[in-house]
Amino acid sequence: MPKKILIFPKNFLWGAAVSSYQVEGGIDNCDWSENFPAGQACDYEHKYEQYFDLAKELNHNVHRFSLEWSRIQPSEGKFDRNEIQRYRKMLLALRRRNIKSMVTIWHYTLPLWVSEKGGLENLKFPEYFENFTKFVSEELDDLVDFWITLNEPMVYISLGYIEGRFPPQKKNPFLVPLIFFNFIRAHKKAYKAIHEFNSNAKVGTAQNYSFTDAYNEKSLINKIIVNISNFVSNHSFLRFINKHYDFIGVNYYFHNRIRFTPFSFPFIKIDNENKRVSDMNWEIFPKGIYFVLKEMKKYNTPIYITENGLADKTDKKRSEFIKEHLEWTHKAIKEGVNVKGYLHWSLLDNFEWDSGFVKRFGLVEIDYNNGLEAKIRQSARDYAEICKNNEMSI
Ligand code: BGC
Repeated sequence: MPKKILIFPKNFLWGAAVSSYQVEGGIDNCDWSENFPAGQACDYEHKYEQYFDLAKELNHNVHRFSLEWSRIQPSEGKFDRNEIQRYRKMLLALRRRNIKSMVTIWHYTLPLWVSEKGGLENLKFPEYFENFTKFVSEELDDLVDFWITLNEPMVYISLGYIEGRFPPQKKNPFLVPLIFFNFIRAHKKAYKAIHEFNSNAKVGTAQNYSFTDAYNEKSLINKIIVNISNFVSNHSFLRFINKHYDFIGVNYYFHNRIRFTPFSFPFIKIDNENKRVSDMNWEIFPKGIYFVLKEMKKYNTPIYITENGLADKTDKKRSEFIKEHLEWTHKAIKEGVNVKGYLHWSLLDNFEWDSGFVKRFGLVEIDYNNGLEAKIRQSARDYAEICKNNEMSI
């Protein structure tokens, strides 16, 4: 018997997210294409109508996707009208289904011509991004409900330039400040460009916000490190873009319980209990979303949870995962945090960057060996009930 009903605010947005390189297929002109080919992925480029039908069937009223820069601007001086037309058609297809659109302008991939000029390291990167943003906002803005300029810039800095896993696969922390400030300038320029075209546009970023706490709460040094780490990874970007946002997009996946390790470089270690983990071996820690949201309250800006999800091939954990994260989100809302939507990552199983197709984040399963057959998972149906009713029983 359900004990309690949690009602979400009126007009709450419910949906799921994807990104171009992870789902579209046929992208061969970006900096990921050579070393991390995604092949036909989910063939979303051609099958988006079918996938939007599934989103509708699952009662989603918002959908987040990204624009593939390498398709729209395949070389410096050229914008491809056919490609921009396709994105217009996608946006119209969402409108016809009464699903709001959240469009990410950069979700990790750069056109080859940008990466050949030094990519994120080039001091002109913010201008390249600004020009691209001007073009897409003029072409698409009438159909876009929410713009997201950059997806998780801090994560990209870490995976591309510290761990060296993502293109350009460098391990060079000395480049970090340059890229950080390029991202800041790029975001601000894009924010202004969109607003010059439409002063009512809603423009934000999507950032990865981890919940960070101390392994040993009594240790002062651990506490200091937690504060520094929390500021750098969760708040520095927002502070530097200095109010150039109309909403904040929160991607929540991680709990980082930090421990000071004086005898082993880099002197800190993430040491979670890991009682429950996903197929990525990431700890499942629903309460963390509550702490993260509570901390965001001080920005006094609408918040959308732009990503939250897990790799779970057998779908044994997803339903509970969603419910628990929503329960904690609801508590934050009750305590005054202005959360206006939840978008699960992801609508579809897709290309999980350097982990390939093995990790399954989808509400909808994709059978890559069987003509990309799409099967709705049970967790997606459970989530669909919550989306439909705008409430959840616990
Ligand atoms: C990224 C997604 C990615 C997901 C799971 C997020 O940080 O925005 O592109 O698939 O995490 O790793």
